[in-house]
Amino acid sequence: MDKILLGGLTARQFLKAHWQKTPRMIQGAIPDFVPPVSVAETLILARREEMESRLITQTPQTSAWSLKHGPFTTRQLNAAKQHAWTVLVQGVNTASREADALLRRFNALPYARLDDLMVSVAGKGGGVGPHVDSYDVFLLQASGKRRWRISAQTDHRLVEGAPLKILRNFKHTEEHVLGPGDMLYLPPGWAHEGVALTDDCMTYSVGFRALSKSEITRHVLNALDEALPAQSPLYSDPVLRRSKFPGLIARDFVDQAFKLVGRIKFDRALLANALGLALTEPKPHIVFDMPEEPLSERVFKARAAKFGVILDLKSLFLYRTTALYINGEALKAPRDSLLALQTLANERRLPAQFLRRPQAFLSSTLYEWYCAGWLHLEEPNDE
Ligand code: SIN
Ligand code: CO
Repeated sequence: MDKILLGGLTARQFLKAHWQKTPRMIQGAIPDFVPPVSVAETLILARREEMESRLITQTPQTSAWSLKHGPFTTRQLNAAKQHAWTVLVQGVNTASREADALLRRFNALPYARLDDLMVSVAGKGGGVGPHVDSYDVFLLQASGKRRWRISAQTDHRLVEGAPLKILRNFKHTEEHVLGPGDMLYLPPGWAHEGVALTDDCMTYSVGFRALSKSEITRHVLNALDEALPAQSPLYSDPVLRRSKFPGLIARDFVDQAFKLVGRIKFDRALLANALGLALTEPKPHIVFDMPEEPLSERVFKARAAKFGVILDLKSLFLYRTTALYINGEALKAPRDSLLALQTLANERRLPAQFLRRPQAFLSSTLYEWYCAGWLHLEEPNDE
């Protein structure tokens, strides 16, 4: 992460002083910023089935909020313009390589924490109301002007009956007006309200995720369930005696149930594996496009050795030593393929030199991922 992006701080200084602690306003974080996805392109994305989008409007007369989920028709989007409106599109990084490249500029923060690039477009006066988010966020102004008001207040009580979370008593203590290329970092739990001061106000949010305790518990329970030996999936009664007290949960019953699950061990390794699977699980609407006419393995290998490979924008790929997690699946890598696979996870591409004489595991795994639409051959460089 470069210093300009962080307002003259190194990543280390930024993390120490601000991350999860205090907001930071960064004027000119990206000087002469040219947004990789325009207002018009964002609105086109909001019409697409595979994108997650929302339309939030507020009626001026009643100040009543409305929330609708996409995909939207052009008509719906045009009709919204009679109100103060905002369109939000999640995961824009999965739809544009340039948007993905912008997200990757934040890679001094681990991908295990990175969520996505959300883009909002609003007409003058539009916003989503004062609220609190539970994640860290960098709010980068892409076009037009937005006024952010923020507060460290602990009163997080919400307006009752509203379709979205709106703070009942928002009292800001700071105000910043952001123009193109300015950025505001907010830690989780800070109340904030952004209002578009101009039409075509576009804000990019680089959001981070934090698994909650109950999410981690759920993933661990799944992992425990999967660790059960497959041969005894059901409770059984090897010796069921006639019952004099049918209301009693008998000792034998508990012993039998314990036999079923008591052998599973919860330890750090099981937790780590559950985390790897959870963090790479594609969001529910994500669909990978498999190649229509896949190359044969031999041709794929020859081209990969010439051009290199690149992860699909939708792929999530993390690792822990030899354990690899990609798109919700786990696999173990042999030591001699490790450097290449870890490079692919870190850089999201693997240059050709790694693939000149690839180890068998590496080349067959990459071919499988190519057939699944999880990675692609790099485009030949025509220069
Ligand atoms: C927006 O970009 O309009 C809303 C972003 C946020 O407040 O989290
Ligand atoms: Co927010």
